[in-house]
Amino acid sequence: MIKTESIHRTVLLNEAIKGLNLRNGATVVDATFGGGGHSAEICKKYPGTKIIVFDQDRSALERGKEKFKDRDISFYNLNFRDLDKVLEKENGGKVDGIIFDLGLSSDQLEDCGRGFSFMKDEPLLMTMKENPTKEDVTAEDVVNTWGEESLADIIYGYGEEKQARRIAKEIVEFRKKQEIKTTFDLVKIIEKAIPARFARASARRARFRKGRIHFATKTFQAIRIAVNDELGALSEGLEKGFNFLKKDGRISVITFHSLEDRIVKKFYKNKEESGEGKRVNKKIIVPSESEVKNNPRARSAKLRVLEKIK
Ligand SMILES: C[S@@+](CC[C@H](N)C(=O)[O-])C[C@H]1O[C@@H](n2cnc3c(N)ncnc32)[C@H](O)[C@@H]1O
Repeated sequence: MIKTESIHRTVLLNEAIKGLNLRNGATVVDATFGGGGHSAEICKKYPGTKIIVFDQDRSALERGKEKFKDRDISFYNLNFRDLDKVLEKENGGKVDGIIFDLGLSSDQLEDCGRGFSFMKDEPLLMTMKENPTKEDVTAEDVVNTWGEESLADIIYGYGEEKQARRIAKEIVEFRKKQEIKTTFDLVKIIEKAIPARFARASARRARFRKGRIHFATKTFQAIRIAVNDELGALSEGLEKGFNFLKKDGRISVITFHSLEDRIVKKFYKNKEESGEGKRVNKKIIVPSESEVKNNPRARSAKLRVLEKIK
């Protein structure tokens, strides 16, 4: 059942759109439609704009189709790493701007029942796709079938979790007795693996939203990144997106953790060094204090903008 209203609050709304330097009549790709906040603002500011939208989560698009039914928007329920397949057909291929607002929407985190949040007991899927097929890897597959070393590597590599080895060991111990089926199974395992004092304090802080993150945050992030191959998709999406930009066209990317940001930073640097691109902002753009106060999820957001110069 598709809900019609999104609960997602758009991050760096004005900054990301200003970065694109659009004019009326432009063609823009919203690679991560989510609750449609960036697309809605583009429609409002530049009513003659054509928008090509991607999201691998079908429910996000279903909501959007209803909300934007009078607008010039094409919706594609695809991973943005496949945007070349669409852009070759749409608009003769070239676009004026692309926006990537990475990660999850609040609709996914709080309401989709796919196991993204460690605060709710849900099946361990963590797929951005709404209905994963048998071929799609889920979080349940990862924690029940991957070897201890691979688990430790992703928890450390994608979650930057210092307790990765202990957590991986505990996952393997647990599954000898029973399958790991739900988010709360995984939270219990992580809690058992890490020093007790640390777990109690971090859970308390997270509950009261005081600084520091919950002890399960990094492991959940790591498994989600692995399940959705988020870093591979980002590298591919950036490269392909850049190829479809017109000269003077721009890309705005909002990232939420250092692994994503590093990929974007390196990509921009390479394009500068090859003489194809120019960073529009030398310093990263971050949300204002008041935005973070009103929307704590914005606190780790970073925006970088690149212009194609030939
Ligand atoms: C942070 S939300 C975007 C919010 C949106 N900008 C707004 O203002 O409402 C990210 C969205 O991008 C989607 N997404 C993330 N990675 C994707 C990918 N590789 N391909 C397609 N969609 C992706 C997610 O499913 C989610 O709906």
